[in-house]
Amino acid sequence: MIPESFVQDVLARVDIVDLIERHVPLKKGGANYSACCPFHNEKSPSFTVSPTKQFYHCFGCGAHGTAIGFLMEYAGVSFPDAIKELAQQVGLQVPEEDRPDPARQAQSQSLLEITARAARFYREQLKGSPKAIDYLKSRGLTGEIAARYGIGYAPEGWQGLRSVFGEQYEQPALVEGGLVITNDAGRRYDRFRDRVMFPIHDQRGNIIGFGGRVLGQGEPKYLNSPETPLFEKGRELYGLHQARQSIRESNTVVVTEGYMDVVALAQFGFGAAVATLGTATTATHIQKLFRQAERVVFCFDGDKAGRKAARRALEASIEHLADDRAVRFLFLSAEHDPDSYIREEGLIAFQRALNEATPLTDFLLRELRSDLDLSTAEGRARLVFEAKDWVPRMSAPILRAQTVRSLADLAEMDVAEVERALGMEPGKKGRPAPRRLERQSVVTLTRQLLRLLCARPELCVQVPEDVVLLIPDDTEREVLELLRERAQSGTVISLSALFESQADAGRRNLIADLLTTSDEEHVGEEDAADVFADTFRTLRRNAVDQEIKALTQRSAVGPLNSEEMRRLIELQQHKQTLKSGQKPPV
Ligand code: UTP
Ligand code: MN
Repeated sequence: MIPESFVQDVLARVDIVDLIERHVPLKKGGANYSACCPFHNEKSPSFTVSPTKQFYHCFGCGAHGTAIGFLMEYAGVSFPDAIKELAQQVGLQVPEEDRPDPARQAQSQSLLEITARAARFYREQLKGSPKAIDYLKSRGLTGEIAARYGIGYAPEGWQGLRSVFGEQYEQPALVEGGLVITNDAGRRYDRFRDRVMFPIHDQRGNIIGFGGRVLGQGEPKYLNSPETPLFEKGRELYGLHQARQSIRESNTVVVTEGYMDVVALAQFGFGAAVATLGTATTATHIQKLFRQAERVVFCFDGDKAGRKAARRALEASIEHLADDRAVRFLFLSAEHDPDSYIREEGLIAFQRALNEATPLTDFLLRELRSDLDLSTAEGRARLVFEAKDWVPRMSAPILRAQTVRSLADLAEMDVAEVERALGMEPGKKGRPAPRRLERQSVVTLTRQLLRLLCARPELCVQVPEDVVLLIPDDTEREVLELLRERAQSGTVISLSALFESQADAGRRNLIADLLTTSDEEHVGEEDAADVFADTFRTLRRNAVDQEIKALTQRSAVGPLNSEEMRRLIELQQHKQTLKSGQKPPV
């Protein structure tokens, strides 16, 4: 573990503009620099770098961070490696002592090494196995594609990996990495035997697991690595590492169900495909995909399982849509999967099918109305009823409005009626998308207070303790406390260093938001006084109101005792003073 003070030192010396400029051409505009975002595909620049805040932020995809975060994302290196590299650039030596958690680090290091060695072994074995080569050939794969995906072969026999690992075969790491299984009698054997091996890479290109297919018939058809410290199925997508370039170029990513689908599509010239790993599509998958491309097309098998998978993908996507992103569904006919389709129909037909894929909202409406008879009032009512679970959750406001309109047409109602029936207040926004719409959402008083304190740290000491405790949002309160601590500690560390010191995602997001929205220029003395007065008054008034409400409700159940009565009167008086704008008696 690298001491936090060292991280601060590094951040204080590195210039983020310098760093980023080495990789991405930056243009100066006003106080900031801008560029086309290196983390998603775009034509007009929404990536900005602030030299004063030492922070980057992309208004398009929401990527943000310090110099450390940039190196991690851009170069795909770990936190310690990013620190090391930056430290070297500014001539600092990373302190060696004091490593509370070397075990975990060492563990994932050695697991990576083990998986990489196993993958090499499987690749070599493939060269010596005519039957495995024949199998791949029978599926239309060339050596070139097999090499590109690192396909290998796990030999027959119970302990093939012993020839690679020797004594290490007995070590817990092989079990932990999912390569070896221990039976009840304590004997060890290879998980993958006599199978074609598909290595699973993470985004940086490390091998983190495997899928193994039987040659021909047999059960189970595919055997996958279990979840390990390296491999979490709900996060990873097969083929993403190899597809990155094609995805960027086409601004499209196609999500399939199977290893062979990805590999066959690549074989026939379509490189921008990935696969979920025997699990349903998760929200994490969607977010990952939207970072890479504006268009996501789910292309599942034409069978019943495929339709179910499509529904799950719809479910995972609905809260992560944006008006400048598109999700489509390509339904193949029942006998096809993407592999067989491109093999029989060819690349051009596949691309045409992709272009004609069903937009998410059409799929949604089709699912909602399936089994309903819209010629009856009951059927139409049911349609709106069913939509309640879906439409209000859509995070893209324009798309949502259009869906409501389509729904209204189908239900023969007017838009306002449908909105009311869906529990959406007519004309008002539904639930905003968590990240992308944050900037447009109403700035709450407490958020404004936090922004002010970021711009003017010296004011922190003026926020009374009772006010801090009254802030309803946990993350906001915690960050405010951090800001106060920081101001009181004398050595004021930069906000970007504060960001880097936090592990909690909620706090990191909030600090990032503050970094990108607090603006030093615009906070005058009077503004500050206003924000203070407003926030303190409102927070205190809310607290008083809540307590009054609780007591009033309590009095409905039975008469208040004298203590409660006294408190109620006291509260009513507080409320009066707060109204008249005076400072309350504590
Ligand atoms: P499919 O049964 O559709 O296989 O499973 P496929 O991709 O068409 O395979 P081929 O063409 O017969 O070789 C789709 C995905 O579901 C997972 C795998 O990830 C597979 O790629 N799966 C399937 C398993 O994990 N285990 C199984 O036994 C079957
Ligand atoms: Mn198949």
